Amino acid sequence: MRKARIVGTGMAAPSSVVDNHLLSRCMNTSDEWIVQRTGIRERRVSPDTYRMLLRLAEAPDKIAFMDEVFAQGLDGKIDSTLTVSDLAFDASSMALKNAGVEPRQLDCIVDSSTVPDFAYPHTGCVLQGKFGLTSTPAICLQQGCAGFIFGLAVADQFIRNGIYERVLVVGAELLSSIFDYTDRGRDMAVLFADGAGAVVLQAVESGESGLISHHLHSDGTILDGLSGEVWGTSTYPAISKKKIEEGRGRPRMNGRSVFVQAVRRFREVIGVCLNTNRLTVADVDLFIFHQANIRIIEAVADALKIPPGKTFNNVERYGNTAAASVPMALHEARAAGRIKDGDLVLLAAFGTGFSWGASLLRW
Ligand code: COA
Repeated sequence: MRKARIVGTGMAAPSSVVDNHLLSRCMNTSDEWIVQRTGIRERRVSPDTYRMLLRLAEAPDKIAFMDEVFAQGLDGKIDSTLTVSDLAFDASSMALKNAGVEPRQLDCIVDSSTVPDFAYPHTGCVLQGKFGLTSTPAICLQQGCAGFIFGLAVADQFIRNGIYERVLVVGAELLSSIFDYTDRGRDMAVLFADGAGAVVLQAVESGESGLISHHLHSDGTILDGLSGEVWGTSTYPAISKKKIEEGRGRPRMNGRSVFVQAVRRFREVIGVCLNTNRLTVADVDLFIFHQANIRIIEAVADALKIPPGKTFNNVERYGNTAAASVPMALHEARAAGRIKDGDLVLLAAFGTGFSWGASLLRW
């Protein structure tokens, strides 16, 4: 039976490392608070965010400094030195090289990025252009942290149905560009960070190896759980000075609600994925969850009786990279020898929307 198989993985993260100690010089937080509640010790951020944080840490009036950055950029400059499509390009280039596939051999690109280079066109198109491709379709998804799972599912349909042979699926984020790194934004700024992950899917006509099933869900009734509306038509005009002054361009999150929903939805969707395939936890070789928070992962693992040795986590080093987190963890798990040929791997993610999902695959 025709299937889609992962033939290459890749990832990219900016080289600037921000530990919890640097954040605690910018806002009223501590390494202990962050580690206890999230398991995050450090994260990667763009060179622009890193320069800004070093300056913020030294600023006598942090709020005034951050307001100046929001109003005028850093030192009056607002063009980014690293964009989300740059990270997407680096991760995708690695995945293509590892797969032995040339960009021109791709039939389609599916990208998921919560905060794109431009409001439109979306990052998938910008990425496609960076590869010098001029007609390959680029599909762009906006499923937040669940984006990569939705992307895999979309790409899989095209391959299974015989429409495409090779599809690049990417999750890329430059989230550090949207946060307020003073006390005003500390609830979210310590969690999220920058990175990208990618896989190349290729059609195979026989064998066990390949994507098996996907289980996708959304619930749009709790929009204020985790949202941002900088370009949204929730206001008229969609972007205005007043909107920015009222802080409505900044992301919003109800941390408790997200935590509770995430644990519940992870449990449900993993249960459905296992039941649909007549499997138990014992049959799965490795579980890779969206790397939002180690406490969420531990709560789900406890509830489903998943032994610690059956999960792969890197949230401690990268924080929450939203749509990039699952493909980054997948790449690192494979590179570290945690996924062997023939292993059964279950991926699961939850994010803004809310949207959540799980994918099962045989490597
Ligand atoms: N440093 C120190 N204190 C902080 C803080 C920070 N970075 N951010 C918030 N606080 C404060 C709050 O202002 C609040 O203070 P108050 O009690 O005086 O009002 C207090 O800490 C809340 O602490 P606590 O009740 O222990 O928080 P929590 O256990 O709910 O943990 C989160 C907060 C955000 C870590 C937790 O809710 C969480 O992980 N939620 C899920 C978030 C997530 O993963 N989102 C992405 C999903 S894709």
